Amino acid sequence: MENTALTKGSSQRSQMCIQVEDLWKIFGENVERCFSPEMRASSKATILEKTGCVVAIKEISFEVQKGEFFVIMGLSGSGKSTLIRCILRLIKTTAGRILINGDDICSYNDQQLTHLRRNTTAMVFQQFGLFPHRNVLDNVAYGLKVQGVAEEERYIKAREVIDKVGLKGWENYLPSTLSGGMQQRVGIARALAIEPEILLLDEPFSGLDPLIRRQMQDELIGLQEEVQKTILFVTHDLDEALKLGSRIAIMRDGEIIQVGTPEEVITTPGNAYVREFVQDASPAKVVTAKNIMEQPKVLLYEWQGPKAAMHTFRTTMTNSIFLVSHTGILLGLITLERLVKLIRNRGNSLKEALEPDLPTCTADTVIEELFPLAVSTMHPIPVVDEAGRFMGEIYNSSIMISMIQEKETGETEESDKEESHV
Ligand SMILES: Nc1ncnc2c1ncn2[C@@H]1O[C@H](COP(=O)(O)OP(=O)(O)O)[C@@H](O)[C@H]1O
Ligand SMILES: [Mg+2]
Repeated sequence: MENTALTKGSSQRSQMCIQVEDLWKIFGENVERCFSPEMRASSKATILEKTGCVVAIKEISFEVQKGEFFVIMGLSGSGKSTLIRCILRLIKTTAGRILINGDDICSYNDQQLTHLRRNTTAMVFQQFGLFPHRNVLDNVAYGLKVQGVAEEERYIKAREVIDKVGLKGWENYLPSTLSGGMQQRVGIARALAIEPEILLLDEPFSGLDPLIRRQMQDELIGLQEEVQKTILFVTHDLDEALKLGSRIAIMRDGEIIQVGTPEEVITTPGNAYVREFVQDASPAKVVTAKNIMEQPKVLLYEWQGPKAAMHTFRTTMTNSIFLVSHTGILLGLITLERLVKLIRNRGNSLKEALEPDLPTCTADTVIEELFPLAVSTMHPIPVVDEAGRFMGEIYNSSIMISMIQEKETGETEESDKEESHV
């Protein structure tokens, strides 16, 4: 099933799914004129004025790893849909290369292109693009029919994905009888039915009500956990991009002006344009526990006795210390008060002195979710990994400070500017 190019390269290269290299797409006549040094240095508006050509994609390069959720974000007209159409080769590219699993699809013949579109890629559109006179089942089975899959088999497969997107029971309904959110679930099911390697979604949720939209985003995250496709997701909505993307490419006037993780985009915006975009986004939604966690000065270990623990408390002048197992699993938090009680009661095991109801979080818990934890306890919040191993601790004060700092950074820059004018 896998392309040979996948297994040929080095291990790192084999993880690469899509590589776009110096890609150009220009609409208009005699587009070569746009490649002159003068035009290359000009803005999209100037080029249009001087040549009548629209530079929809200007020298774009980026790479998408296998299994990555890659978001392309930009305002309307920035070239997002054109880029997607180039990757599907629905339109001819002007210059540059697009490699899928190491194969340059710009040199594909018609037969290869058909195979690419039928088997490797699947597309979900903003306007759903369903067949109005076919029921849900036939809409979802359509791609399989085109592939030549026998009726019985394609219906089995279609029912399976209909179930997956939560539309069981709706198989025989026509799209027009479904809500927008449900129609887009059909669109997603249709795309997933052919088991594509790459899923391309062009503003799939832009036409939906905010509440439904949020719900669909959550469902897509869940689906991706399950199916692990390589996803190219287009949006003009920053919050959506930050929520969904493992990495985000920000486009403006046909160029990619920054590629980064949601955190990188928020914390180190590539330039003034990106900064303007992200200034409204709350850091509470993107800065995570791992950014503000610290390594504790000391830990207590389950094999230690109460007296040894007391010695540690004395030498470190602290009120509470986390207790971990032989394998680093977090067992709980011991406070000085409880330890004193334990020793008075002649207890032997530190486990008897654990603080009850200890809140925990993981490395990717966002600050927004840490707030309620922070107010529920006076002790640091432990960060654990999936196996429950202790990774670090977060002070309540760090949560507050990180929020305030974010605000102040913005303000400081403003006052710096003012000072420099003086
Ligand atoms: N077929 C076309 N002919 C001429 N110009 C086009 C065509 N398709 C798109 N464009 C232009 O290319 C630019 C990018 O458009 P598009 O990719 O649709 O942006 P987005 O999807 O980000 O809104 C726009 O300036 C648009 O007007
Ligand atoms: Mg578009």
